[in-house]
Amino acid sequence: MKKIILVLCAILLVLFVVWLVVRFINISDATENSSDYKASYRDEKIVIYDIDDLENQAKEIIPAGGFDYIRGGAETESTMRRNELAFDMVDIYPRVLTGVNQPNTKTSILGINISLPVIVAPAAAHGLAHISAEAGSARGAAAAGTIMSVSTYASSTLEEIAQAGNGAPQWFQLYLSKDDVANRDLIMLAESLGYQAIILTVDAPIGGNRISDARNNFKFPLALPNVPKKSGKTKGQGIGAIFAAAQNELSPYDVMYVKSLTDLPVIVKGIQHPDDAEIAIMAGADAIWVSNHGGRQLDGAPAAFEVLGDIAKRVNNRVPIIFDSGVRRGQHIFKAIAMGADVVAIGRPVIYGLALGGWRGVVSVLDYLKTDLERVMWLAGTQNIDDIKNTELRQRCNLCSDK
Ligand code: FNR
Ligand code: LAC
Repeated sequence: MKKIILVLCAILLVLFVVWLVVRFINISDATENSSDYKASYRDEKIVIYDIDDLENQAKEIIPAGGFDYIRGGAETESTMRRNELAFDMVDIYPRVLTGVNQPNTKTSILGINISLPVIVAPAAAHGLAHISAEAGSARGAAAAGTIMSVSTYASSTLEEIAQAGNGAPQWFQLYLSKDDVANRDLIMLAESLGYQAIILTVDAPIGGNRISDARNNFKFPLALPNVPKKSGKTKGQGIGAIFAAAQNELSPYDVMYVKSLTDLPVIVKGIQHPDDAEIAIMAGADAIWVSNHGGRQLDGAPAAFEVLGDIAKRVNNRVPIIFDSGVRRGQHIFKAIAMGADVVAIGRPVIYGLALGGWRGVVSVLDYLKTDLERVMWLAGTQNIDDIKNTELRQRCNLCSDK
């Protein structure tokens, strides 16, 4: 009898040691991906001299793995860098003696009035940056008078975000699940909560090659509560695995399918070729979102701004155009609108603003861009957004083909 007890104790001891080892491996594997991930809880306006400064400031307070995920682009990040540089390929003519006074940045998109032509792009896991997560960003967007787009991979629930927006306009961005019932349920939930459009993102059937995430072995330290349960757990998963669990084969039928599930406008996001814009419109898209996902998908692709003009020409005002990737200044907003966009969206600057000041930081970012746009409009002799649309940009001559 004594022997049996001794053997049982020994087995228990071995099991305990194995459990300890496994636990230790999990913890060290996860680097910051365990429960001790510390997101910011700041709550203050931020002073902004240049949106580009925010990246370095945010680096100081967002834990490294989370920061790299947010900041990073695909592979060499050449497309990501070009996104911002491409705006320098065209110039805005300064115009004088125009009688312009205090330009008006108000506009509307899909019937929604906004106080500036800048909206919040959908981005995963704002909780990496700030404890208030998307609820904080939504409050900031609402206070600034613009639209909050909410990713399927948000870290606040759709309910929390809707509540934080307090009736301000919000759009829901859908990553299609492989499960039709889950897609229908998610759209119905968004509709019932008052989201005013569905953004169908089509440029991420798989994730881009995000080298820093691979090096960091980055896994989400928090759950993404809106992802359908059937897709498996999200906390502790990398973005590659999460993309893999979603729909990996997309066609015009998916646009038609989403259209069939909702009466809300459907915006197709991730268009970079005029033919794809045409296909999306034929499939029923109510708006086109020109974007290269902030350079996070196909490195070696052109800057988003470089493809905007040709796409706008093809779309020819049949549907509105939203534009993003690399927008950081008033002159970028101006140039994108002059090139054919109706509104622009910003991704990373919102997340950095959130990290640096919570919802007030998001307001600071949007207010900064509004003031900067007003200044550019004034100096370019444009009183309102329609005037920008009628403005011709000057191509840099060192790009002229006959030079
Ligand atoms: C994104 N983006 C994105 N897009 C989308 O449709 N669904 C998503 O879940 C995400 N997630 C996401 C996470 C992070 C951290 C970033 C930075 C971006 C792309 C986003 O909507 C937008 O296209 C880019 O962020 C625009 O580029 P800028 O403004 O960040 O340069
Ligand atoms: C990203 C996603 C989730 O770019 O779209 O990481």
